[in-house]
Amino acid sequence: MNELKQFISYEKMSKYVADIIEDIFKKSFRMTFPKLVLPTGSTPLGLYDELVKRELDWSNITTFNLDEYVINPNHLQSYHNFMRMNLFDKTNIYPKNYNFPNRNTQAYEDKIKEKGGIDLCILGIGTNGHIAFNEPQTPRNSKTHVVDLTKNTIKDNSRFFDSVDEVPTQAITMGIDTIMKAKRIYLVAQGSHKKEILERAVHGEITPEVPASFLQEHPNCEVFYSD
Ligand code: GLP
Repeated sequence: MNELKQFISYEKMSKYVADIIEDIFKKSFRMTFPKLVLPTGSTPLGLYDELVKRELDWSNITTFNLDEYVINPNHLQSYHNFMRMNLFDKTNIYPKNYNFPNRNTQAYEDKIKEKGGIDLCILGIGTNGHIAFNEPQTPRNSKTHVVDLTKNTIKDNSRFFDSVDEVPTQAITMGIDTIMKAKRIYLVAQGSHKKEILERAVHGEITPEVPASFLQEHPNCEVFYSD
């Protein structure tokens, strides 16, 4: 079941999630190297800044990103580049330990399994209720897959590109089932424009129309919000 926790500021929310991650890093031992799932978008930027400031030891950490556009990974707006610029290149994580989905979707699922599954998954939410790029109507049992982005998502994400025509129309995303298998999930959302969809996700009907509503079925998921 989800809990919705409201923070008085974005800064406080970012620090709170950074504390959780720091705690996981500190409690990790040789045989239990943490496996994290990480998001992109503007919401996690405060969290990533905070993690960088804390100069944590990332040498034993493996990460899987939630999604990636069908785009050249060297493109400025690829999620690969976003993660390198905002987090990875500012830490001591080994490049061999960060992973992004590509068209070989089964290989991504296999790698997650091979690593022993996900300990912690950090998520954002789209204004249409998507998690990662699982757009409305994505089935609950979906695995990593290629997706055609909706007009709504292309419009929302066009703020990062010079024009809406430059936004990729396809992406590769972890499926809802892939996300639901994580041991712990935290969804972070910022801004009043996310309030209505969050309310539906946390307290509304569990339906593929609002992919984030499936998180209500997760035994260890919390939802964090700040204005
Ligand atoms: C993109 C990502 C999602 C993210 C969403 C929200 O669509 N694929 O994983 O949750 O953006 O982004 P923002 O935090 O910028 O609102």
